[in-house]
Amino acid sequence: MMSDLFVVSMVFGTRPEAIKMAPLAAKLRENSNIKLHICSTGQHREMLTQVLDAFDLQADEDLDVMTSGQTLNGLSQLLLTRLDRSFEQTKPDIVLVHGDTTTSFMAAFAAFNRRIPVAHVEAGLRTGNIHSPWPEEANRALTAVLANLHFAPTERDRNNLLEEGVDPSQIEVTGNTVIDALLLMRDKLTRSGWTPDVASPLGPLNNDRRVVLITGHRRESFGDGFHRICTAIADLADRNPDVMFVYPVHLNPVVQEAVYGVLDDKPNVLLVPPQGYLEFVWLMNRASIILTDSGGVQEEAPALGRPVLVLRDVTERPSGADSASMMVGTDHAKIVSAVQKLLDDPDYYREKSQTRSPFGDGHASERIEKRLNAWLARDRRSVA
Ligand code: UD1
Ligand code: UDP
Repeated sequence: MMSDLFVVSMVFGTRPEAIKMAPLAAKLRENSNIKLHICSTGQHREMLTQVLDAFDLQADEDLDVMTSGQTLNGLSQLLLTRLDRSFEQTKPDIVLVHGDTTTSFMAAFAAFNRRIPVAHVEAGLRTGNIHSPWPEEANRALTAVLANLHFAPTERDRNNLLEEGVDPSQIEVTGNTVIDALLLMRDKLTRSGWTPDVASPLGPLNNDRRVVLITGHRRESFGDGFHRICTAIADLADRNPDVMFVYPVHLNPVVQEAVYGVLDDKPNVLLVPPQGYLEFVWLMNRASIILTDSGGVQEEAPALGRPVLVLRDVTERPSGADSASMMVGTDHAKIVSAVQKLLDDPDYYREKSQTRSPFGDGHASERIEKRLNAWLARDRRSVA
């Protein structure tokens, strides 16, 4: 009976949120107690559609908030107004938000103002530095203050929440859903045998040259930090003409300008548009080394056994000293020497390419769905 169903509103708006919520959406759709309403804020446009396509997932609603080069406050006020209207119409029993974007925090805030409970997926990640990542560290800490249920990927994330005074009974350690998504896509790749067409932007990779894959978009590195990253890649490309450096460039105009300005004319640097998730997982598999400032890629690379150099000074995703993941910041010399060592020293490379998955086992969505279901049946009434 319709009246017995719990309405769950899942809100996301950016590429990583969609990738990490997609496996959970599939699980919730199988639950006959739940009516799932997927609200895309449209904080990203092209980059969001691309990844939703990979999961055959469609949003029920699109708030269409993206404008080119949006300011954080302009974006926030649009999100708050349109999410408020969405919640008024949908009347959810709970709102599910993910991670640390402006969409996540504004959705939690809009729900709180309407006295709607909030569940936070990928809760508890912290660097302890409010300025790095910016504005994400603030977004996730503020979301935690408002949330009624916290799905923490790891024990470390759970401990961060406990230190902030979150009630332990509200926290569930689940693993990160990104590993669920990655394994789904890897299976899809294996089943389909997909490889890039010669005419596609990834066509030049249909050979046996080694590949270094790069992604970068973080706001705290804009300006000098980003310039140093790009000139380090340019130097590496000059020194290693037999290696292909592949960079799917984020659509943020600040990133586009910085990357194309320095790297456009290099014969062994391939600048391509952001890739769909299937294509990007293929690329991570194809790469020997990954350089990134992305949170999601930091979590995925070790699960694929790929060494990952993290273009940041701090991380909320430490994976252990013996892991495939190494912090190089935005320091030109550090980036060049770390990549060169991996390219030149096969024993060191082997040591850094052990497959490990410290962030999840591929079953996070199941755990979240189970706890959410129990919460709706048992605890929902005591909160409202
Ligand atoms: C956002 C999130 C960041 C997340 C990242 C993932 C905030 C403040 N930032 O950063 O936490 O790690 O997404 O990628 O929430 N654009 C397009 N098409 C797209 C997407 C973006 O043209 O599909 C351009 C637009 O000009 C847009 C700009 O990129 O104004 C910036 O987008 P925005 O969502 O504000 O920030 P990101 O840097 O993408
Ligand atoms: N990704 C993708 N296409 C690309 C680059 C990245 O599908 O061209 C995926 C990647 O595998 C990861 C996620 O997007 O799951 C990371 O997104 P992003 O770097 O934008 O955000 P962050 O992880 O830093 O929040």
